[in-house]
Order: sequence, then structure tokens, then C-alpha cells
Amino acid sequence: MNIVEIISKKRDKQELTAEEIDWFIQSYTAGEVADYQASALLMAIYLNGMSRQETVDLTLAIVASGETLDLHDTLDFIVDKHSSGGVGDKTTLVVLPMVAACGVPVAKMSGRGLGYSGGTLDKMESIAGWTANLPIDQIKKQAAEIGLVLAGQTASLAPADGKLYALRDVTGTVGSMPLIASSIMSKKLAAGSDAIVLDVKVGSGAFIKTIEDGRKLAEIMVNIGKDAGRQTVAILSDMNQPLGHAAGNGLEVQEAIYTLTNAPQAPADFWEHCLKIGSYMVLMAGKADDLDTAEKMLTASRDSGEAFNKFKQMISAQSGDLSMVDDPNKLPKAQVIKDVTADTSGTIQSMDTEQLGYTVVHLGGGRLQKSDAINPAVGFVMPVRIGDKISSGQLIATVHAADAVGYERAKKSILESVKIGEGAVDPLPHFYGVIE
Ligand code: URA
Repeated sequence: MNIVEIISKKRDKQELTAEEIDWFIQSYTAGEVADYQASALLMAIYLNGMSRQETVDLTLAIVASGETLDLHDTLDFIVDKHSSGGVGDKTTLVVLPMVAACGVPVAKMSGRGLGYSGGTLDKMESIAGWTANLPIDQIKKQAAEIGLVLAGQTASLAPADGKLYALRDVTGTVGSMPLIASSIMSKKLAAGSDAIVLDVKVGSGAFIKTIEDGRKLAEIMVNIGKDAGRQTVAILSDMNQPLGHAAGNGLEVQEAIYTLTNAPQAPADFWEHCLKIGSYMVLMAGKADDLDTAEKMLTASRDSGEAFNKFKQMISAQSGDLSMVDDPNKLPKAQVIKDVTADTSGTIQSMDTEQLGYTVVHLGGGRLQKSDAINPAVGFVMPVRIGDKISSGQLIATVHAADAVGYERAKKSILESVKIGEGAVDPLPHFYGVIE
């Protein structure tokens, strides 16, 4: 087989066979297909799409590119979650400890930032010393002893996704349904999950912009899960504005801690989101008979301090500096912390949340090239919401920047992204449906 022919076939909108897809994935993983050729194929897929069969074949080829994990000798039932990516999405940091505190052990493989969307590992690494590089023995031991593990995708698990993910991040090919669906589902299948809760984000800050496309993506992923014999549920959630207030790695860890401890700074929309995702995990694991009961259990795990305790146990087991968790003010601090205020009065009509995500990337909180280092201290905290009435001079966001130039650029970008105008606007719903 020949990569140029495969690229040309997809460029010409023809359907690839399972053998061609498999050959590409194995050859790219082995380093026999160059990044520039893989980039061309990714762009052809981005532009021309893939059929349902091609998407399933791509997912299975990615799973077959490495080992699969089986934690069933340690855990009876493995429940997992995954977000399709957004701005300010620190859900995993809160939901996993709560679910674990409800008696559902979780060992999750998480990823890094992708394009303008943040990644759990980058966020967690704001905590000094914390590592996601765990040998399989430690994953099992920690899952058994603490019931909570947050590991990096090991090089041996779906390695093709690791390589493709990093390439998509820097080639403008992230927002493609078959690429997102196969990326997410290959990791979940390779990690041996019995039940999967998918958080499919739609809106200006998601890779998928419309509810209709979000529903399609959700259906593709639920079907892949079903074909592979895993219970799969997808929740369509809003990403037309950042989730919670904080965007940026260390700031999001801080907000997750506020939420786990029910501090006054914990944003209500983010809490509602965590309850929804967590309740499906608890329900699917068979620990509650209905979603209402599951939500009550999760709330009790926060209120009793059990969930925060689980979070701390995980940090400590993974070599993180607990003093930063006990006192989030010790998390990395930016040089310049300065407010952005509204330059006009009116109602917030909309937000360009993708641009807000890129604001964090340009501040140094994400990557523009594969090798870029992350600055954990930078980002913004934005307490306002679409539909809020704003007066000129009112606080829109507080920017955390590495220097004054970074602050000025972020300020301009935020003021451009947050559209203030005449006329009332209803607050946005948090969820648009569930696909089971
Ligand atoms: N999350 C993933 O794991 N992969 C994607 O492609 C998008 C979000």
C-alpha cells in the first residue's frame, strides 16, 4: 500500500477500506509515514469526512495500534467519562473524586490540551510534582487502595491517537467528527471501560459548533460504544461561554478546589454540570437506582468533605504538592493580574468562546507548536454570563498574564469576544439532551 494513493483517494472523496485505514495507522505509528503526509490525510478527512464504517474502522485501527488495558482483576466495573473539549472544562477534576467517594472507583486516562481547548493533564501539572506518568502496577494499586487514578495516556495504549492528537493540534484539523469520535472512543475502548459517559460540547467554544452536529457526533460515538459492547451515554452540553469562571491551567485547578470544597467562589453552572455528568457515572455503575438519588449522593460526598479527601489522596499518591491543594493561593502566580472592564453598557449577547480559548493559548496556557511549554499561571477569570446586564466600567474578567504585553493582548481579545449590545437575552441552557 502507498500513502500517496490513500491521501489522493480521500482528497477525491472516495471511501477508504478497513485495510487502507489499518495500514495507515500502523505505518504512521511505526514512523514509516511522515508527519507531513499524515497531515495531508488528516486535512483530507477534515474536509471530506468519513462514512460511519470508515469511522468505526479508524477507531478499531487506533485501538489495535497498541495494547489494551484490563483492570478487571482490580475493579469489578470500570466506568469512565470523556469530554469532547471546551474552554474552562475542569469537570474531570471535580467529578472523579465525587464519584470515587460514592463508592465507584475510577482509573481514568486523560489527555493534554488540543487547539484552544484545555487538557486535564496540563491542568493537573500546575500542582508541583504531580505526575500522570504511572506504571500499570501503580495504576492498579492506586485504583484498589484509593479508588481514584488520573493517569496520562500510556505510550502503549492507543499510541496512534497520541501521535495523531499532537499533529491535529497544530495542523488545524481538530474539529472533524470522525477524527474526534475515533480519538475519544479508541482511548475509552483501549482503557477497557465497561460504561462510558461522553460529554459532547456544542457551541462557539466547542470543536462542534451546532446542536445538530453535536447530536450527530454523539450518535456516532454511542454507536461505536454499542458495537464494541460498552454501555455508552452522551450528554450534549453548552459551550457557548466558558464553563465556570476560570480558563487557564492553574486557575482551573483553583476553581475545581473551590467547587469540591463548596467555597463561595464555586460557580453554580459548573456545579450543575458536574452533578449531571457524575450522576450518570454513579447510575451506570449501579450505585444508585435513579439520577436524582445519584445527584444526592454526589452532593453529600462534597458536603461531607469525602470527595475533597479523595482528591487529596490522589494528589499525594501521584507525588503532588498537597500544600497547593490545601491553600490554592500557593498555585503558580502570574506576574501581571489585572482586570478588564466593559467599555460600553448593555446586555451580553454572545461570546466568541473559541477566541477566548485562544486568548489563554496566546497568554502561554496552551500550545501553538508541539514542543511549546505551558505556563500554568496564566489565563482569565470571567464571572459574567450571556444574558447578564452590564454597565460601562463593570468587571468582565481578570486576566493573569506573564507580562504587560500579554495582558494588553488578552484584554483586546476578551473585549472583542464578549459582545455587549441592546436588547434582553435569555440565559443559555446548560444541556441540550442525552443520547443513550
Ligand atoms: N478529545 C479527544 O480525546 N480527542 C479529540 O479529538 C477531541 C477531544
